[in-house]
Amino acid sequence: MPYTVPKLTDFSTPALDSAVRELLSALEQESAAVSSENDWKAFRDRWMARKSGVLTQLNDLWLKAAPGPGKREVGQRVNELRDRVETRVLETKEHCDTLSIARSIVDKRHPIIDLARAFIEASERAGGQTLTTDEAFSKAEPVDITLPGIRRSLGAEHPVIKTMNEIIGVFRNLGYSVEEGPEIETDYYNFEALNFPPNHPARDTQDTLFIAGQESKPLRERLLLRTHTSPVQIRSMEKMKPPVRVVCPGKVHRNDALDATHSPIFHQVEGLAVDTNITFCDLKGTLDHAMKALFGSSVKTRFYPSFFPFTEPSADVQISCIFCGGKGARDGGPCRNCKASGWIELLGCGMVDPNVYGFVDYDPAKVSGFAFGMGVERIAILKYGVDDIQLFFNGDVRFLEQFG
Ligand code: DAH
Repeated sequence: MPYTVPKLTDFSTPALDSAVRELLSALEQESAAVSSENDWKAFRDRWMARKSGVLTQLNDLWLKAAPGPGKREVGQRVNELRDRVETRVLETKEHCDTLSIARSIVDKRHPIIDLARAFIEASERAGGQTLTTDEAFSKAEPVDITLPGIRRSLGAEHPVIKTMNEIIGVFRNLGYSVEEGPEIETDYYNFEALNFPPNHPARDTQDTLFIAGQESKPLRERLLLRTHTSPVQIRSMEKMKPPVRVVCPGKVHRNDALDATHSPIFHQVEGLAVDTNITFCDLKGTLDHAMKALFGSSVKTRFYPSFFPFTEPSADVQISCIFCGGKGARDGGPCRNCKASGWIELLGCGMVDPNVYGFVDYDPAKVSGFAFGMGVERIAILKYGVDDIQLFFNGDVRFLEQFG
């Protein structure tokens, strides 16, 4: 039964003593049961709320009810009780705060975890008696400082970032610099300036999320999640005059259903080289070198005709299958990785379409260049033999720590 303030009829000293004792014992018990901020608030209100808290009831049921001659003593008692209750409520708050800090430290495995645990244990051992921090630690089990410490496991670079840095490294060694651009792009940079005119069917291959509520803006200013890193080509050419040699790593988004090889979010590294007299031979030589640097010097490349609006001619680059060495067969059967073809398609590339130069004020009669774009997860999947792209994004430490 929770404590309720009794109506007093007997105002003699022994009767008051007993009523006070009963009240104080209820105060102790209820304070000891407080173990959270919410408990404490309820405790505080029960004892101190202006309208119907225990202190207010003491005024009504004891002080006001006391007969004339007894009023003085009852008044003194009630004042003392008010001090006791107020002090107790504050002490309980301090205890409760310290407990909650200690708990959060323990949950977060903070280095002072042992001390915090000792505080909690000491406070539990004290059986509800409130303790200051100093008292609790002085009652705590001594800490054995000869025990081994807490070993913090080392983090590892995420395989996608690791692969991205490796790709960037290859191009840095060729004299490329790194450029980055926004993940939320305008229609202009993601499509129009890359020679995807409005309503061009090539846009259908790169569906994405559009920011809502932009119908009143002209199409080219509308915001979307970029579908490729190619917009950074445009941003780079706007910023610098030829010669340009940049790689642009980053996250991209597509309206693609999840499966073992597709994810609505993935990463690309884009490349762009513009200068005088750059030819398709430069493109072939550069990418052949890059693929050998990434997959080993025995890898061969071949260029297959393809289409991208912003390059002309365009090509898909295939590398000889790294699983079967390009033979198309492995372990006495067809190679599953290259579907027995001996080749794996890896990236897109081409010579920058002269129309694109028109958007950035380059003179197509004077300069030429090539561009390429590759999916980082795709390369990581091949390099590390990962069989499901989702593994990169699930955050499962057992998978990730293999790359440490
Ligand atoms: N942006 C293309 C895509 O996401 C990849 C690409 C192809 C980039 C050819 C290029 C390029 O720079 O020249 O599918």
